[in-house]
Amino acid sequence: MPSCPTYEQWIQDQGIPIYRDYFVEDARDLKLEPWISRECNGAFLQLVGQEGVVETRVIEIPPGKTLPPLKMGVDEAIYAVKGQGLTAVWGTQGGAKKTFEWNAHSLFLIPSNASYQMSNMSGTEPARLLIYSYLPVAVAATTDIEFFINNPYENPARLEATEESFYSQAKAVKEDPNSFRAAGKIEQFWVGNFFPDLQAWDKLTPFYGRGAGGKAVYIHFPNSELTAHMSVFPSQTYKKAHRHGPGVVIIIPGGEGYSVMWPEGGEKVIVPWHEGSVFVPPNKYFHQHFNLGGTPARYLAFHAPPQLKLSEKIEDIRRDQIEYTMESGDVRERFEGELAKRNLTSLMPAQAYESETYEWQYETTTPA
Ligand SMILES: [Fe+2]
Repeated sequence: MPSCPTYEQWIQDQGIPIYRDYFVEDARDLKLEPWISRECNGAFLQLVGQEGVVETRVIEIPPGKTLPPLKMGVDEAIYAVKGQGLTAVWGTQGGAKKTFEWNAHSLFLIPSNASYQMSNMSGTEPARLLIYSYLPVAVAATTDIEFFINNPYENPARLEATEESFYSQAKAVKEDPNSFRAAGKIEQFWVGNFFPDLQAWDKLTPFYGRGAGGKAVYIHFPNSELTAHMSVFPSQTYKKAHRHGPGVVIIIPGGEGYSVMWPEGGEKVIVPWHEGSVFVPPNKYFHQHFNLGGTPARYLAFHAPPQLKLSEKIEDIRRDQIEYTMESGDVRERFEGELAKRNLTSLMPAQAYESETYEWQYETTTPA
């Protein structure tokens, strides 16, 4: 697995677990160990598909506790796995402290070189966060990780907001011409530093071409190159297999199902998932998502650095996506078999298997 030796050495030196499998079944009860310097329990995820490119760590804030302030030299996207808390973000060069509350399923961005401090607002329940960044890539450019941790450098402009407050709710915007996806397919993006509840988020736009009648929210954080999307797709359906580069870390806010990941012609890895599961499709592995539940399933995907072509951009759709009409029979067979175990049946329309150009009917959405 490619990796940044400096970053790899640093995570080993932290004395907390490093998980290196294909997936973590449930980040909510993943075993963590005391992380002395951060005064919390924690673990790193270096799952196979991360290929050493991106950082993912899970931390737990004990009930009622406030962690020491931290300042990282990279943007960090933080997803609340469970619990409820408070985050304060500030710079030393003027400006008020920005404070906001979060709950399980909130997503927010901490800009690089801003100080931040997190508290657990519950006196009885621990709070857990999954933190994602491009730290290994940044460290590889300097071989000095200390440059990125509590460095006094600041850029006050990163904490400025042109309208509303910095952590006000995300806003819809029309298609971004610099989209990581093919132009013309996305009706709107949501831009903001705070998404209060991804389990309940219902402002979605069609995810054309990937099947299952799936919808998505395309997430851009203002002035950050870090992006994400959350896909939502209906009960008893499955999406088309596709592939891309490594480092796209997926966490499940809600739903039940499984994903299959495999290299072309190679062995299949089955990933069962539900709320709190984390998995990462390895580099150029096809992967396909199946909803076995009675409700829509949703998955949040953090996008890897676009320079490495790690996003969901499809270079050649004929090579990187498998249409339903082209897939092997065992795909449908396994899906229908798993549904049968739950006394459910497939809701995939027959036409999807007959015509490559079949598209689900989406109700019209109105771009902002
Ligand atoms: Fe993907």
